[in-house]
Amino acid sequence: MGKNGTNLDKDLEILAKSVLSGKKVTFFQGAGVSTSAGIPDFRSPETGIYSNLARLNLPYPEAVFDIDYFRENPKAFYTLADELYPGKFMPTKFHFLQKIFQDKKLLHRIYTQNIDTLERLAGIEDKYIVEAHGSFAANHCVECRAQMETSLLKEHMKNEELEGIPTCPHCKGYVKPDIVFFGEALPIKFFDQWEKDMDDVEVAIVAGTSLTVYPFASLPSEVKHNTTRVLVNKYKVGDFNSNKRKKDIVALTEADQFAELFAEKLGMKKELDELILREHKKYAKKGGKEKENTDEKAAKVAKEVRAEEKEHIPPSRNNTNQELSNHDE
Ligand code: OAD
Repeated sequence: MGKNGTNLDKDLEILAKSVLSGKKVTFFQGAGVSTSAGIPDFRSPETGIYSNLARLNLPYPEAVFDIDYFRENPKAFYTLADELYPGKFMPTKFHFLQKIFQDKKLLHRIYTQNIDTLERLAGIEDKYIVEAHGSFAANHCVECRAQMETSLLKEHMKNEELEGIPTCPHCKGYVKPDIVFFGEALPIKFFDQWEKDMDDVEVAIVAGTSLTVYPFASLPSEVKHNTTRVLVNKYKVGDFNSNKRKKDIVALTEADQFAELFAEKLGMKKELDELILREHKKYAKKGGKEKENTDEKAAKVAKEVRAEEKEHIPPSRNNTNQELSNHDE
């Protein structure tokens, strides 16, 4: 279904024309664009991460990503981190369409809440990506902020004496990857980049997010009124529910299905299929080395993020007081 119940096909045809005529696309995405890679989202009933944490004995599901809870009980996070650690998953059709957009200069930016780095693995350059909730690419001690190399962090995660909890060699504080926990500030790049971008969003594609976590959830409502906003999700969320705009397009589809349909309208379907085939062949050729390949890419990401850190203050020391929070807090 498209806007106001009209035909999605038609809406996307019109949108494709305006993108091909030079209107660049800014994406705002969440866990739903990665579920087809095999990574569960957070809030889907039954399949979402938060519905499957009984084994961790948490006081409430989000505690697994809460900084105060982590300081007292880091084991819960590290049990989950082992399962979610990047390196095991391939980008999806949706990510590969974004790569084609980049190559054709149709991409403005990708604001992602995801920590899976699939945008980077799809070949999207750092300058186009804003990882609003950080990533696994670098790690710091939550007490003294000393950095820990990922190789050492992984060793600690397997160390029985440490009970699998990476621990700072300097102050014995717990170390955690630089993913933003509830109660922590978002990376300064998020605020800086959004200040520059917010008036330049021509087409906004909001995909695979429940829009429940702030400040990210407010971004789609901050774009200008002449921006075309598109929601790609299993159901209507956030501003598309409560503050719907006349020009909004609502695509209640799977993210990959949307990518296929939009690629078709843009005349890029063949290119998308060929790109995906090439990528799959690359992975298949590596055979048993598939994991090695993605680990190499993850190491490259870490290097890029470290270079970026030289320019930016690390997450919990930045000068903004906007912390990650749920809408009901
Ligand atoms: P959620 O799990 O809250 O929302 C995912 C949304 O994607 C839901 O509305 C699903 O219905 C939808 N969805 C799932 N699979 C889909 C598919 N294949 N195609 C289209 N839609 C699909 O995930 P986020 O909104 O990303 O924070 O969650 C936001 C933040 O909450 C996360 O970044 C995480 C979490 O606490 C941290 O980890 C710091």
